[in-house]
Amino acid sequence: MGTQIEDSKIVLSLADIQKSFAGVRALRGVSFELRAGEVHALIGENGAGKSTLAKVITGDLLPDSGTVEVFGNSIAENSPIVSRQLGIAAIYQQPSLFPDLTVSENIALALETGGGLRRVYWKARNQRAKALLERIGSKLDPWRLARTLSMAEQQIVEIAKALGTDARILLMDEPTAVLTEREAEHLFGLVRRLREDGVAIVYISHRLEEILASADRITVLRDGERIACRSASDVDRPELIQLMVGRSIGSVFPKRTVPIGDVALEVPGAFSVRRGEIFGLAGLVGSGRTELARTLFGLTPSGSTIEVNGRPVRIDSPAQAIREGLGYLPEDRRLHGVVLEMTIAENVSLASLATVSRHGLIDTTAEESLAARYVSDLRIKAPSVNVPVGTLSGGNQQKVALARWLVTTPRVMILDEPTQGVDVGSKAEIHELIVQLAEQGMAILLISSELPELLGMSDRIGVMRGGTLAGILNRDEATQESIMSLAFGHSTGAA
Ligand SMILES: Nc1ncnc2c1ncn2[C@@H]1O[C@H](COP(=O)(O)OP(=O)(O)OP(=O)(O)O)[C@@H](O)[C@H]1O
Ligand SMILES: [Mg+2]
Repeated sequence: MGTQIEDSKIVLSLADIQKSFAGVRALRGVSFELRAGEVHALIGENGAGKSTLAKVITGDLLPDSGTVEVFGNSIAENSPIVSRQLGIAAIYQQPSLFPDLTVSENIALALETGGGLRRVYWKARNQRAKALLERIGSKLDPWRLARTLSMAEQQIVEIAKALGTDARILLMDEPTAVLTEREAEHLFGLVRRLREDGVAIVYISHRLEEILASADRITVLRDGERIACRSASDVDRPELIQLMVGRSIGSVFPKRTVPIGDVALEVPGAFSVRRGEIFGLAGLVGSGRTELARTLFGLTPSGSTIEVNGRPVRIDSPAQAIREGLGYLPEDRRLHGVVLEMTIAENVSLASLATVSRHGLIDTTAEESLAARYVSDLRIKAPSVNVPVGTLSGGNQQKVALARWLVTTPRVMILDEPTQGVDVGSKAEIHELIVQLAEQGMAILLISSELPELLGMSDRIGVMRGGTLAGILNRDEATQESIMSLAFGHSTGAA
């Protein structure tokens, strides 16, 4: 059992780290140790303190007390610059690229220090970017503007940035949350290669399968405390869940048969979704799923006509989409999902001001109690409904984005990766909620890169390829294989 790891050098050691934010004890005396050449996974529920611990390591946050040692040296004043000089690189939960710069400019900016941008060797810079992208198996065009990239493509650029700095310690905070399984597998190949080169990796993820397959050791956090540190070969999934949640979790996909009603949404020439139906949308990244969702919701007006509740409409703006009874939970929650500066209560009532306002004035008590209900239903971890959403953990922000739409009860709800970054316990709750919405007669368009989620939840699954619908599978004919063959364009006769 992992003897090599136990013998190898300790590269990072945290002892008794405490960190509080106003009213929240995010880390309570956490100790953590990382050895050369190991993948050390950090897991725990949303809000457990994983990202906070990562930021203490990178110097983005200073602990209230406790010590950080890197390569045996105690770091008195950590900072992003200090940690980078020590060979620590990080890939965060949310990509942070400059939207108006190209892919290679973004990579260059991360690598070139001290006035490097003044002397611009365009050719060398693009070649460097290309080489780094190739190393992670990506064919991304270095000249593309960051604003035109999908979430997955942005994450690929972030990984290239981190690799380019020749890190000895690499922190990855949910790097696969927005990746498809194929892209994620590719990333693991890369992680294994880095490990063989002696890079030590801290890996944060909610996908327990990938952790069990790739990690050497696993540290579990719960409510800011270190609950356990185990060798990955000594634990299994149920035990990890038990350690994380402190209870066991039932079925993840509580799909129930719901009476299917009239057509609520018709996309001419493609598909229709009926009341009570969950229509899954599968496809590779870039296959056009998000683009379709954005078009339906009026974010990318197309001028084409769809039918909502049997009435032809042309949707040219989100405001009109909402009036027609459409809701949209976007993949990138920072763009249209939540307003980080606003409180939970304000965000929850944002899409439905009518229900909490009287004579044009917002009734804050109604707003707060409405939000409080969703905070409890979705188990959103927050000190109160009056804290800015920006202070919540990633998964909890996602839950607020969902709550915001649940209040408005649209007739057609488009969910783009609704459980991305959400922990196992909350995932089951969100799935249950989606089924309840279907039972109430809502038509649901569910976009997900996780095939088990799509297969578990959907009545029918549409598969997209190259911007169009390649086929539709009924629940009984949909399998991982039939979906993938449609997504890749092999003909198997499955459709
Ligand atoms: N800047 C901040 N201000 C106030 N509270 C914060 C801030 N950053 C984090 N917190 C709180 O600290 C706790 C731990 O958050 P953290 O982001 O570390 O969780 P996490 O384990 O990464 O969760 P997730 O899986 O959802 O990403 C949460 O309760 C969060 O609300
Ligand atoms: Mg986090």
